[in-house]
Amino acid sequence: MTARTHIPKGETVDEAFSDVAHDYDQWVQKALPGYNEIFDTAIELIPYQPEKAIEVLDLGAGTGLFCKHVLEAFPNASFVLYDLSDEMLEVARKRFAASANRFEYIQGDLVQVRYRLKFDLVISSMSIHHIGDQEKQVLCRRIYQTLRPGGAFINVDQIKGVGRFGELYWTTWLRKVREAGAEEKHIQKSIDRRRKFDQDASLLDQLDWMKMAGFQADCMYKNYFVGVFLALKPARDG
Ligand SMILES: C[S@@+](CC[C@H](N)C(=O)[O-])C[C@H]1O[C@@H](n2cnc3c(N)ncnc32)[C@H](O)[C@@H]1O
Repeated sequence: MTARTHIPKGETVDEAFSDVAHDYDQWVQKALPGYNEIFDTAIELIPYQPEKAIEVLDLGAGTGLFCKHVLEAFPNASFVLYDLSDEMLEVARKRFAASANRFEYIQGDLVQVRYRLKFDLVISSMSIHHIGDQEKQVLCRRIYQTLRPGGAFINVDQIKGVGRFGELYWTTWLRKVREAGAEEKHIQKSIDRRRKFDQDASLLDQLDWMKMAGFQADCMYKNYFVGVFLALKPARDG
């Protein structure tokens, strides 16, 4: 399978995000109802002491918001940020310029991600739903392989609303972003991106795929269509 078979002609997912890279940080605070609780939960789930120099891989890192929260809690951590959009990564480069020696940036597709390096922690937020379900399963296995024994994968991502819940997730989100004061032009761009590129998976499928890859996994927090998934690699196999 080629890397981006699911993307409609005329615009790619990296073009769509590159287009909004400079407004993204302000937008996401309004576009993600429960933003603070979601990321507070994600950070408190990291299974290491705050002073440890953990090595972190962020998949679909965008402008580096998730890394920023990890760095605040783990000041000795080092990071690899992986994303399709160089413009999104450019915002991250500026954000972390003061600690440049602990940050590496890779422009690439999640579908093709492969590492020889090992990490203590793999994080991802609002990104993996852009790839297909088969590709998500392959990615889960690759994340498992790239983690050290006892390592963790923390994924903040969209959840497909099954049956009537799909409509309920959608209308509630729209009401909340409007109440949060998001500009209508940003809302429309987001709706456009969601229609073109989102391939949400159900909560149960996402958990199953993590477990099939070898993880112990649970959804630790859920705010309508957004879940905080914790997947733990056993300290030793078997
Ligand atoms: C909604 S943004 C989230 C960015 C960041 N993780 C955050 O939470 O602020 C989605 C990001 O995923 C990236 N992305 C989407 N599909 C991707 C793919 N197939 N491979 C790599 N990155 C991808 C986009 O370029 C974008 O930066």
